Amino acid sequence: MIHKNLPVHVGFIMDGNGRWAKKRGLPRKFGHREGGKAFKKCVDDCIELGLNHVTFYAFSTENQKRPKDEIEALLKLFDEYLDDIREMDDKNARLRFIGDLGFFPESTQKKMREAEEATAKNTGLTCTLALNYGGRNEILHAVGKIISEGKNVYSEEDFGGYLYTAGMPDVDLIIRTGGERRLSNFLIWQAAYAEYVYTDTLWPDFGKKELEKALKEFSERSRRFGGV
Ligand code: IPE
Ligand code: IPE
Ligand code: MG
Repeated sequence: MIHKNLPVHVGFIMDGNGRWAKKRGLPRKFGHREGGKAFKKCVDDCIELGLNHVTFYAFSTENQKRPKDEIEALLKLFDEYLDDIREMDDKNARLRFIGDLGFFPESTQKKMREAEEATAKNTGLTCTLALNYGGRNEILHAVGKIISEGKNVYSEEDFGGYLYTAGMPDVDLIIRTGGERRLSNFLIWQAAYAEYVYTDTLWPDFGKKELEKALKEFSERSRRFGGV
């Protein structure tokens, strides 16, 4: 299906992995594993549907409150993913990582840097992973950078250049699975005029049909940006 009025940048809040596992009597980490598979499929769907920019919220700064074994399972999944980014390269996709990445082991940070470098010249989908990401943390980090450089920043555009998302377009559509209707500290600056689509579907069950439905809903929204 060819979609009209595609959003330039789609953000995904991949929520519901834990409940997906609980429903099956499994530990939460199994939900995260399944969620990882859904993420990979979703990237393929985004490419097929002709999207240009997508950002996936995979771990928030607040998720550090989770039990140690759950965090360890998530770190292992991120590491496994980073070990095989060839697929992304083959698909001409570019990988970016945003967040307070110093939280991750140096070996993982190195893999992230290498993945960014290896795919930097790709011209297809730009796929950004938000890892240990928090919108408030991002804004504070930007202010700290501006102060340390001794700069005066007066325009929104210049300020945006200090965010982790520097150079990326604002997010137009945010899709949240798992039934909650909140932003949970995701892209709070960049989502100033985003459209929202919520679904009760748990992230591991989210597929192409629902993505297409969300894109259709987006295309029918009237965006005024404060105008008439
Ligand atoms: C989203 O699923 C993934 C992360 C936040 C890492 P959750 O783990 O929040 O799943 P639920 O919301 O508890 O079902
Ligand atoms: C949001 O999900 C963060 C990610 C999907 C990474 P949470 O499950 O952490 O959000 P809350 O706690 O329900 O707001
Ligand atoms: Mg959740």
